[in-house]
Formats: sequence, structure tokens, C-alpha cells
Amino acid sequence: MANESLSAAKAAKNDEFYTQYYDIEREINAYLEYDPDVFRGKTVLLPCDDPEWSNFTLYFAQNFQTLGLKKLISTSFAPDSKRFKTPYQPSLFEQDAPQFDPSKTCIKGKIFELDHDIDGDGRIDFHDLEWHYLEGDGDFRSREVTALRDEADIIVTNPPFSLFREFLAWIVQADKKFIIIGNMNAITYKEVFPLIKENKLWLGNGFHNGNAYFRPVGEKDYANGVKDDTTGLVKFRNCCWFTNLEHGRRHQPLSLMTMEENIMYSKHKEVRGKGYAHYDNYDAIEVPFTDAIPSDYEGVMGVPISFLDKYCPEQFEIIGQTQGDSGKELGLKPYPRELKELNPSLRDGQLYYLENGIPQKPYARVLIKPIKESK
Ligand SMILES: C[S@@+](CC[C@H](N)C(=O)[O-])C[C@H]1O[C@@H](n2cnc3c(N)ncnc32)[C@H](O)[C@@H]1O
Repeated sequence: MANESLSAAKAAKNDEFYTQYYDIEREINAYLEYDPDVFRGKTVLLPCDDPEWSNFTLYFAQNFQTLGLKKLISTSFAPDSKRFKTPYQPSLFEQDAPQFDPSKTCIKGKIFELDHDIDGDGRIDFHDLEWHYLEGDGDFRSREVTALRDEADIIVTNPPFSLFREFLAWIVQADKKFIIIGNMNAITYKEVFPLIKENKLWLGNGFHNGNAYFRPVGEKDYANGVKDDTTGLVKFRNCCWFTNLEHGRRHQPLSLMTMEENIMYSKHKEVRGKGYAHYDNYDAIEVPFTDAIPSDYEGVMGVPISFLDKYCPEQFEIIGQTQGDSGKELGLKPYPRELKELNPSLRDGQLYYLENGIPQKPYARVLIKPIKESK
């Protein structure tokens, strides 16, 4: 019951965060640097958007020709269907349009489409977007938005935080290319990690210095974000982009020191002068920091989840992770009863190592193995 009310409270959190133009441009540039034609001739769908306000729509519409898009489709969710409701006032843009319908504005989603020059200025851009109300409320799971998904080649958006798993499954089902924003913790979800392991999904280029700033709608319930009163933006430390499109940073191997060098010079006191613990229930060493991965260790290593932001598939192979029941599937040995008495927080299926005879439990770990020796 306690768990149910916690989920209900979480579910009621604000999903209305708008991505900044700069962040979208910076991320898309990373894919363009790798392949300048990545969007050429493609239909891009921006679901879960609010095209009148969204910088995703603005960015792709303004760069329609530079990117060589075939078609841009952007859909919004009806104000009355939003979980986090704020007083709704249709924009002047909507009210001035001949198709404006006061009986639909709150209950229908909208679709914006762009594929040719309408205003005759010789350019295809934001001013050429055409829109109408959807049949339904624009829920991405609806039949009509699902049909748009099927028509699209690439799906780009910042989906509602609370529906991330469902949203990703919706894209993966249709085997589409995507660039979407999510919480870093999603890496360990049972729906997400297997895709990472199989190289079907990876982290995107990322937010500047790992800090994501979004423009909030509404004045409270910023989930895990913190509002900066000067800029009005809400900052999240743990947001990242998830994608299955190639970008250059993904293929840059980490520059690492050998084990001996780490023990002598590591900036981390946990490693310097101490070395690396070996897990007691799995044949791997504990590496508490990504920059402390020893370049010359050839076996399996347990590294922080944030390693995946630096993961280069040519440098390391992903063996597994230890969240939830995954540890048991990896064959982690159960804790001996006498150790449980020394540290009652231990749970079978989690890694542990012994420090002065006391079992220690590391944070969530990803298990990796070098593909070849890299120095
Ligand atoms: C995190 S906001 C992002 C908005 C915009 N994509 C951006 O980043 O600027 C997620 C948006 O998805 C909408 N949304 C929530 N549930 C939805 C659903 N089931 N189907 C479609 N959109 C939904 C929310 O109302 C919100 O506008």
C-alpha cells in the first residue's frame, strides 16, 4: 500500500518540461558531424510535443532544408488530457487560424506537418507548417499517432518522464531510429539495459557538462529538478539522450592509466595506494570510478552506471548489470548466512566484496570486459 501511494505521488509529478533550442541543436549537430546526410530524405516525427511552443518543432522546421528532410510531423497532447494541468488559453496563432474550434481546443491533440513551401517565399520553414486537430487527444499510444510513427523514419522528442518505458517500447516495437531524452537511471530498467548490451541503444552526445536545463510549465512539482529563480529554468543532473543513431563521441575510446599507474597516481583516494577489491561472489574487480578503469586489466570489471556515457563499443564489451534480478541471472553467488549477519542490508543477487572481513555492497554496477588491451 505504501508503495502504491509512492508511485501515485511520483505519477502526479510534472511532465511539462520544455527542451531548450541550444540543447537540441547541440545534440543534433553530433549526429550531423558523424553523418551529414543522416536526416536527408527522411520523415521526422516529433510526438509528445507542443508545436506552438516546442523548440523541437522550431529547430527541425527552421533547418528543414539544411537537413534535407522529406517531411516533418509534430503532434501535441490535448490540454485536458495532460496529467499536470495548468490554466489553458489557446494561443493567438491557434485562435487566428480559420480551423480554430473552441469545442476542440482543449480535448483534441494537434498535428503540424511540413513538406513544401506554402507562403511562396522560396523556402520551406516554420512559416509553412500546416496544422489541424487530431481525431483524438494526441496520446502517442493512439491509433492515429501510432500510424504517424509507422510513417516516420526518425522519432525525436523529450517524452513525458513518467511514461518513458512505455514510450521507448512504442518506438522499439516499430524498429525506428530515435533520439529521445530520458533519465540516466533508465539505463538499468529491464526494458532498456538489454538493448544497451546488444548495441541497439546507446547514450547520445549529452547535455553540456551533464546538466540539463528545461523550461517548466507550472510552478511546482519539479520532480527531481531544481528551479533556478534567475533563469526560470529547472536543472536536472541526471538527464541524458538515448539514441540508436551513430555519433562520433561513441567511438572515442577512454584514455586510461594502467593498474599500477592508478594505484600510484589516481586522484581517487579509494584507489590510490590501495588498488582494487575483487568481488567475493563474482569473478570481477570493483572499479568505483570510470576514470579509474585500469587499461591493462583483462578480466571483468564492475564500473559505475555512468560509465555508459563514455562507453565505446570498440573498447569494451558489456557483460551485464546487477540491478533488480539481473545479478541472479549473471550467476552471482548468494551470500553466506554468516555474512548476512555482519551486514543485514545484503541481498542475494548483488555484488559484494570483503573489507576487513565485513561485506561491502557497491553502488549499482555495469560489468564490462576489455575487447582488446587499450593503453
Ligand atoms: C517533457 S514534456 C516535453 C515537451 C517537448 N517535447 C519539449 O521537450 O520541449 C512531455 C510532453 O508530453 C506530453 N504528454 C504527456 N503524456 C502524453 C501522452 N500519453 N501522449 C503524448 N504526449 C504526452 C506532455 O503534456 C508534455 O507536453
